[in-house]
Amino acid sequence: MILEMKNVYKDFPQGDFTVNVLKHINIRVKEGDYVAITGPSGSGKTTMMNLIGCLDTVTKGSMILDGEDVSTYTDNQLSDLRLNKIGFVFQTFELLGQKSALKNVCVPLAFAKVPKKEQIERATEALQRVGLGDRLDFKPNQLSGGQKQRVAIARAMIQKPRILLADEPTGALDSASGQSVMELFEQLNNEGTTIIMITHDSDVAAKAHRRAVMKDGVLTSDDEDLVPPYKPEEEVEEDAK
Ligand SMILES: Nc1ncnc2c1ncn2[C@@H]1O[C@H](COP(=O)(O)OP(=O)(O)OP(=O)(O)O)[C@@H](O)[C@H]1O
Ligand SMILES: [Mg+2]
Repeated sequence: MILEMKNVYKDFPQGDFTVNVLKHINIRVKEGDYVAITGPSGSGKTTMMNLIGCLDTVTKGSMILDGEDVSTYTDNQLSDLRLNKIGFVFQTFELLGQKSALKNVCVPLAFAKVPKKEQIERATEALQRVGLGDRLDFKPNQLSGGQKQRVAIARAMIQKPRILLADEPTGALDSASGQSVMELFEQLNNEGTTIIMITHDSDVAAKAHRRAVMKDGVLTSDDEDLVPPYKPEEEVEEDAK
């Protein structure tokens, strides 16, 4: 298993009270899987993705990523893990506006202290792969939405992460650009990358190999019957005895 979330809860303190956003999330994702998470706005999809991506930590429960129990990791350990194992793609691309496509893709390599020459070679190759070999020196505002997302994918994949996390990757794209992003995902998944993607679009979700639905902070259904149906916490504790 590349990911196991066991009875995960996520609360956010809000002044005098607490918002219970995620409740007893149980999911197991096999290496090489391609999962789409759908569900209404505000149901907790991004919150769950932030936990999987080690951008945030669980309130309760355990999170095992590639065999490591990250529930108790420090911020430094989490950022190392993010750098080495996880690639992120967001709806709004999150590119650095002042930097060229090439420099944006170099960012993770610079963090990893890869020598400059190798950075340029690898980033060039990655951009060629996503069909942007002729756009290396273009800045984000000189690229179309679909091209920006392909730069973001090249950046996410440059360190060959085990997991690619995507939050509404086609949300800001026209359908043709969305399609080309989906084709790239399919290729990456065929090469063994595990993909977990959030989407509102049922056509996009249909491209994944497995679908899970989030509702009010609970995973209500999953193609794989690995996820136990909704269970109150007491019963789950009872089961563990
Ligand atoms: N830092 C926070 N503090 C307090 N509440 C939060 C925080 N982050 C998220 N929430 C709450 O958690 C709930 C779920 O938010 P989340 O962003 O995970 O939803 P989502 O399913 O991704 O929605 P969308 O489809 O609109 O992106 C929301 O009600 C939101 O207000
Ligand atoms: Mg969201």
